[in-house]
Amino acid sequence: MAISVEENGRLFNLHTEDSTYQMYADECGVLLHTYYGKRTEGENLTGLIYQADVGFSGNPEEAAGNREYSLDCLPQELPSDGVGDYRESCISLLHEDGSMAADFRFEGYEIFPYSYKVEGMPALYDNGEETGETLVITMREKASNAAVRLFYGVFEKENIITRAVRVENRGKSGIVLAKCLSCCLDYQFGEYDLITFAGRHVMERTPERSRIRRTKLEVGSLRGTSSHQYNPSVILCAPETTEDSGECYGMCLAYSGNFTACAQKDQRGQTRALMGIHPEKFSFRLGEGDAFDAPQVILGYSDSGFAKLSQQYHKILREHMCRGKYQYTKRPVLLNSWEATYFDFNKEKLVALAELAADLGIEMLVLDDGWFGKRDDDNSGLGDWYVNEKKLGGSLKELGERIHGLGLKFGLWFEPEMVSEDSDLYRAHPDWALQIPGREPNRGRNQLVLDMSREDVRDYLYGRLADIVENAGIDYVKWDMNRSICDIYSHQYAGSRNGEVYHRFVLGVYDLMERFLNRFPDILLEGCSGGGGRFDAGMLYYSPQIWCSDNTDAVNRLEIQYGTSFFYPLSSMGSHVSAVPNHQTGRVTPFRTRGHVALSGSFGYELDLNKISEEEKAMVREQIKDFRRYDSLIREGDYYRLAAPGGRFCAWEFVDGKKEHALQILVMTSAEGNPLPVHTVVKGLLPDKNYRCSENGRAYSGKTWMGAGLTLHAVPKEYESVLIEWEMVDR
Ligand code: GLA
Repeated sequence: MAISVEENGRLFNLHTEDSTYQMYADECGVLLHTYYGKRTEGENLTGLIYQADVGFSGNPEEAAGNREYSLDCLPQELPSDGVGDYRESCISLLHEDGSMAADFRFEGYEIFPYSYKVEGMPALYDNGEETGETLVITMREKASNAAVRLFYGVFEKENIITRAVRVENRGKSGIVLAKCLSCCLDYQFGEYDLITFAGRHVMERTPERSRIRRTKLEVGSLRGTSSHQYNPSVILCAPETTEDSGECYGMCLAYSGNFTACAQKDQRGQTRALMGIHPEKFSFRLGEGDAFDAPQVILGYSDSGFAKLSQQYHKILREHMCRGKYQYTKRPVLLNSWEATYFDFNKEKLVALAELAADLGIEMLVLDDGWFGKRDDDNSGLGDWYVNEKKLGGSLKELGERIHGLGLKFGLWFEPEMVSEDSDLYRAHPDWALQIPGREPNRGRNQLVLDMSREDVRDYLYGRLADIVENAGIDYVKWDMNRSICDIYSHQYAGSRNGEVYHRFVLGVYDLMERFLNRFPDILLEGCSGGGGRFDAGMLYYSPQIWCSDNTDAVNRLEIQYGTSFFYPLSSMGSHVSAVPNHQTGRVTPFRTRGHVALSGSFGYELDLNKISEEEKAMVREQIKDFRRYDSLIREGDYYRLAAPGGRFCAWEFVDGKKEHALQILVMTSAEGNPLPVHTVVKGLLPDKNYRCSENGRAYSGKTWMGAGLTLHAVPKEYESVLIEWEMVDR
């Protein structure tokens, strides 16, 4: 059993292969967090806690005069607000009398031999062969009707532990939940760095590493989505941790809305890290019998560096978060119309593109923005999900038939959550948009956001999506979301419930996606929010791939895909070969390099095939063959970051599960006269087996390759790339 309970139901150990997470419900009923780290035998580690009389750190009534017992110093599972722990808390309550104390004490526990679900939200699920276990600990608020159920999930082999929280109102008087984070980690000892993933539109997820000190480090989003600017995933690690050595912990939130992730040392040098829904612009009213569910945090642990941590996340997200037909099957190589035509297309143009695509071995045509309503630029039409047959020169059904007739699949772009003021939908239902009465709304891309908390809005969208998808025989949907949310106000939740709207918006999006996928279980959904503005674990529950960034420049993509790879599997990163000069940066890179960079994700093209040379067409055929050849290696293999972007070159590697085959890709990112040699490391091989390398034809033992590495026979020129393979041989 991964979960063990001892000492009369008060000592809880969650064991994974390499880690142990321990809690103890002490004599005062406080749920202490005693340990998270390298696997132990499960002994009670409360002895690690050093208690002393710390001035200005008060003592709860149960401490019976013991001045050394203070919530302000103890490591806890559910630090709460207003009762003497002055550090950052997980939970804040506002009672009817205006008081704000939240004092939770242990009540009981339950264990289940399967993974728990989170109401209305994504969560890691059991996939038959591999089943998680669940521990639920119930805590009762001392003086009100509030109770909390703390959920812990354990995936033993994957070294993954999950947490989620449910707050219940078990009485008659109302309670307002003013803050409800999903997870707190308290470390009594040690120095830690916090790695966050920060960015902006078209430059997402650059890792930033900072030492955790007493000044609070915090990232988050108040944009209504998880955002381009900060990702809801962070790493805590020892200062000396590298790709291959040292301890590290991942915190990854399965949620697509506002979030916070913070870490800080307290007065005694203890580190506290928290994650969950952002408490700003949040409050949730719980009437009699109501409950609130906070999203799941996926915790990972590695005792040997970031590579292992990432591989564990890749596996758990691929196998227990992604769902549907395309979870394991090969993804179709697609041609997306966006950078090929933008808004300027009709049926004949699209069919001509599809013919070229089919001839080159591409497997799907995706018709991006512009096929509906009045939509020749991005100022109008959103919400009017009716085919513009005049512009298209026929119906979508006919177009679908022509495309299917060429042996291609047919994909379509939607942006369901949005509405243009210049649309029939907005003219008919202005109250369906999020905007504050009496104030001019903020426009983003000249559009407003629909109130996804409303069932009638979702019903309309579901009806339109289902109708179009069914009639035109759509195989794939790109689900976009192109602005940040503000002017938060819903007619349905106006007044004191307005603080619920951001969260209810996210629940509404999940509900619509779930309904849509129930109706079309075989459809491939690709998530998107101006590229990677909603690239989070929650979205992977619905869409096994997400358009990684609107930036298709191969060199910028090195950074974006590098940062994304710390948590998210390569198979989840939509990545396309586009034209040069690149539309976002103006940079010119070789066609081959663009192929190698796009290959390391869910592969496709995003350019006008009429404009590429015969030589490039031949390369497309080769690239597609390569993608197929390396498909399972890239989708399911172990991924290693070898050389980070920012140096002379960037390199990465995939190794298959049996360790018989490895693939390394290296992109030269700078040029110099009289260049120095390029030497790369090799990782993940079996030391005692022999491998032949495609670069120099030599066969050495895995041990030798991993120890000595490889020197390239020629130094690639700026932006050139090389692809190198190692095959296991008898020698
Ligand atoms: C967003 C997406 C792009 C494209 C456009 C269409 O920016 O990220 O890929 O679909 O919208 O308007």
